[in-house]
Amino acid sequence: MVTINNIEKLLISFNEKLTKINNLKELNELRVLYMGRKGYLSALMQEMTNLTNDEKRIVGKKLNDIKIIINEKIEKVNKELEQQSLNERLVSEQIDVTLPGTKISNGTIIHPLTKVINEITELFIAMGYDVVEGPEIESDLYNFTMLNLPIGHPARDTQDSFYLTPDFLLRTQTSPVQVRTMLSNKEKEPIRIICPGKVYRRDDDDATHSHQFTQIEGLLIDKNISLAHLKGTLEVLVKKLFGENLNIRFRPNYFPFTEPSLEVDVSCFKCQKKGCSLCKNTGWIEILGAGMVHPHVLEMSGYDPNIYTGFAFGLGAERVAMLKYGISDIRFFYINDLRGLNHFNQIDSGDINEG
Ligand code: PHE
Repeated sequence: MVTINNIEKLLISFNEKLTKINNLKELNELRVLYMGRKGYLSALMQEMTNLTNDEKRIVGKKLNDIKIIINEKIEKVNKELEQQSLNERLVSEQIDVTLPGTKISNGTIIHPLTKVINEITELFIAMGYDVVEGPEIESDLYNFTMLNLPIGHPARDTQDSFYLTPDFLLRTQTSPVQVRTMLSNKEKEPIRIICPGKVYRRDDDDATHSHQFTQIEGLLIDKNISLAHLKGTLEVLVKKLFGENLNIRFRPNYFPFTEPSLEVDVSCFKCQKKGCSLCKNTGWIEILGAGMVHPHVLEMSGYDPNIYTGFAFGLGAERVAMLKYGISDIRFFYINDLRGLNHFNQIDSGDINEG
């Protein structure tokens, strides 16, 4: 029945429900319930047809008033809830402008391997050497045969290789650059070269092995060159790399392309020969391979071994950098962890002599 009393009851029930509204969705549901096409108010409106004209005037006015009140109330709560949800978003999406931004590296870090290569090549350039590079895909001929390692030579096995075809492989050493340089020197003049580059061997990668690493090789060919020249040159190199007060020693070794062949040790720069973990208590650290160029190697590349002699040496840039910067895992060089690289970039090479 549509009576004044019922209309007032409707407002009371609306007011009560309105106090329990928590969000815009609930408010909308409440609006539909009271003001919607099939809502309570329109149901009461429809019942007005049963009233007399006088009753219609009074009840109709009352219904209209209530409609206005309910609309106003809904509008008011709607505004409050919108403000509330805006405030919540402002808090949850707040940006702290005082936080430091994401640091973008500007790419000025010099990789420790590059540093070692630069240091060594600059030293040799100052001594009149040329820097020469060669291809990483090399012929079996230059990588082995012309270096006195003919097919079937057992020493080929010590440099387990990645062959691409029976005649071509990823070079296992930078020594083929020596062959290329000697061959291309048509006048057979003296040679002084330093050859840095990547080399490849079939090794299982671990802390001290990598299937790809960096060699730096030196070659000098001239008249009357002796072991003394080699020793003097390597002393200059080692002192530049690890510090002034160091000695080197030669130990006999075997390389097919040099005769005699030597293993070169440097006195431990960490403990000054007292014995420590770095030198495994021997006082010495193995640092490079070297020797006098084998007469047969000279001959194969067109140099007369009765006129010319020469020395060659080869070292691993990773090994030098590991010793110099105290890096214990060779894989560090290849993962490009900028924080780690930056750390070693800051180490002054002089520091290691105090260790
Ligand atoms: N190429 C040699 C190696 O990889 C190193 C070496 C170079 C030794 C030159 C002597 C002379 O083992």
